[in-house]
Amino acid sequence: MPLLIVKSPRKMQTLSDSLRSDGKIIGLVPTMGSLHGGHLKLVEIALRKADIVVVSIFVNPAQFGPNEDFRKYPRSLKKDCLKLGAVGANVVFNPSMSAIYPEGFDTYIDPGRTGEILEGARRPGHFRGVATICAKLFNIVKPHFAVFGQKDGQQLAVIRKIARELDFDLEIVKAPIVRTEGGVAMSSRHAYLSASDLKKAEVIKQSLDLAASLIKKGARNAGAIEKQMRSLILSVPDVKIDYISFNRWDDLKELIRLSGEVMISVVVVIAGVRLLDNKIIKI
Ligand code: PAF
Repeated sequence: MPLLIVKSPRKMQTLSDSLRSDGKIIGLVPTMGSLHGGHLKLVEIALRKADIVVVSIFVNPAQFGPNEDFRKYPRSLKKDCLKLGAVGANVVFNPSMSAIYPEGFDTYIDPGRTGEILEGARRPGHFRGVATICAKLFNIVKPHFAVFGQKDGQQLAVIRKIARELDFDLEIVKAPIVRTEGGVAMSSRHAYLSASDLKKAEVIKQSLDLAASLIKKGARNAGAIEKQMRSLILSVPDVKIDYISFNRWDDLKELIRLSGEVMISVVVVIAGVRLLDNKIIKI
C-alpha cells in the first residue's frame, strides 16, 4: 500500500474503524515531524508489530511555552513523507491546526505531579499539552499500540500514566534510545551543534554508564553516585549540568536510596543547547 496522507480526523477515524473491522493491527507513532533516524527507528519497531503503521505529524502548540518559539519549529512534510515511504509506513496523519484545536477548544488533560517535576518544572504546562494531544491522537487513530522513545523518558512515563489512569485501550510501547556512533542520544537539536560540541556530548552517556557500573558494584546512595557523575561531566570544557535525577521508573518519585526500577536522567547544556538522556536500571 503506497503512503496515504490523511488530513481529516473524521476520515482517519473512519479508516481506522474499517481497518479494525478487517482485523488489522494498527500501530501509531506520534511525531511533530522533522524526522530523523530516531523517529524512523520507532516506525521500524511499529512495523514489526502492526499490519498498518500510522505516523502522526502535528506540531502541537499546546506543549510549547511562551518563550519557546512554536512558529520557528522546523517543518518539512515533503521530506518526512519521502522518508516514511522509504521505510514502509502506511499512513501519515497530518491534521490542520483548526481540525485539532477548533475555535473555543478548552479541554485539557492534566497529568498531575508526574508532569510537574524535572522537565515539567522547567517547562510549565508542557506535559499537559503532550497529554492532551496524545489523548486526542489515541481517540482519532484508534491504535492497538503507540510507540514512544525512551529518550524522552518523562514523556513516556506521563503517557503510560494517562493511558492507565484514563483507561485508554491500547499498549504503550517503549522504544530503546537511538544513539550516534559516539553514544549521544539522537535528537533534532543536534542540528544546532558543531562536530566538536557533539563530541563533548559523548560524556552524557559515559556518565550514565559510570552510574550503572557503580550500581553494579553495590552503590545505592543517589547523592554519592551523582557526585561522581558530575565530576566526570564537568571535566569536559563548556559542558554545563542542568540536572541529574534518580526517579522510580513507575511513577517518577524521586529517590535518595536506589531500589527497584530506577530512571537516571541527565540534562546538560552545550553551546546553549539542552541535551537529555537517561538510563533505566533494574536493581
Ligand atoms: O515527542 C514528540 O515529538 C511530541 O511530544 C509528541 C509525542 C508527538 C506529542 O506532540
